[in-house]
Amino acid sequence: MPFHEDELEAAEEVHLRSLTAAEAEGDERAVEAALRPRSLDEVVGQSRVRDQLGLVLEAARQRGRAPDHVLLSGPPGLGKTTLAMIISHEMNAPLRITSGPAITHAGDLAAILSGLNEGEVLFVDEIHRMSRPAEEMLYLAMEDFRVDVVIGKGPGATAIPLELPPFTLVGATTRAGLLPGPLRDRFGFTAHLEFYEPEELDRIVRRSADLLGVDLAPDGSGEIAGRSRGTPRIANRLLRRVRDYAQVRADGVVTRPVAQAALDLYEVDELGLDRLDRAVLDALCRRFGGGPVGVSTLAVAVGEERETVEEVAEPFLVRNGFLARTPRGRIATRAAWTHLGLAPPALPYDESGPTLFED
Ligand SMILES: Nc1ncnc2c1ncn2[C@@H]1O[C@H](COP(=O)(O)OP(=O)(O)O)[C@@H](O)[C@H]1O
Ligand SMILES: [Mg+2]
Repeated sequence: MPFHEDELEAAEEVHLRSLTAAEAEGDERAVEAALRPRSLDEVVGQSRVRDQLGLVLEAARQRGRAPDHVLLSGPPGLGKTTLAMIISHEMNAPLRITSGPAITHAGDLAAILSGLNEGEVLFVDEIHRMSRPAEEMLYLAMEDFRVDVVIGKGPGATAIPLELPPFTLVGATTRAGLLPGPLRDRFGFTAHLEFYEPEELDRIVRRSADLLGVDLAPDGSGEIAGRSRGTPRIANRLLRRVRDYAQVRADGVVTRPVAQAALDLYEVDELGLDRLDRAVLDALCRRFGGGPVGVSTLAVAVGEERETVEEVAEPFLVRNGFLARTPRGRIATRAAWTHLGLAPPALPYDESGPTLFED
């Protein structure tokens, strides 16, 4: 998709501002930066991705070329941004960071692309949220390392191809399925990040405790790891809350009982369900007899927006087999009843729900 040269300057300003905003945003980012593994060797878990990516980078290094474009996909908090930074670090190449939502016009992207230096790593977070015209421009840039700049207006306008130096695009997405095929196909390597095993989270918690100077007893990390929903970001966040508790209400040492007491206080239960997750299951079982009930009704019952229930609580509950989405509404599984300490209904009902209306 061609863009107009006037757009280039305007876009450059917008881009610079949003870059600064992203860097300065929120407290957590600063802490996360301190906890991020800096090399592939430091990355805990994800051994297959680590091996494969390590090979891609090593081969590129040997050839003295920029590595192929890399797509990182997976749920939030599993290490996509971390890996993007590691790629730049391991290649000894500067990193440019932007995100899909920041690229609303093709011109935004053109400004970024035309400013790239040879070998640079361009990280586009949430790449599935980029605008369509920008996406089309990206195809050309990824494949042929060029963008078309339109000079002039109306019938006299001409597209001048602008050569780009070889660079590596690293895209991150939580929704790989939303990426158009042509874009997905232009990545030479796709890494899909999986949820972490408790043992891996345990190692992450111990590593973070070391870096943050938290006094962690050998039995303290498991409790945090087990409640972290397979997600390093959550593990690190729980560790910080437990540390607060240990400091204020105990002698500063994070032991298992201290971690338990702290996480109970913050309403994160042994399986990692939080207040909202339990409220959803509770309403489903106690008020609606286990369902099926529509998600909007369920949301009203717990006093939340429908989107919050659908996007925040449900994915985890579904993944862990507590709740099923059926065409007639949500139903609680046996595991949900048991987890709430309730007896499941006597009549066995089909947990997969009716298939009558499914396509
Ligand atoms: N494999 C890992 N080993 C150690 N820490 C990790 C790992 N993956 C993620 N983290 C930590 O979790 C936090 C979130 O990771 P991040 O890369 O920002 O996730 P994403 O970009 O996928 O949302 C970071 O602070 C990072 O330190
Ligand atoms: Mg990220």
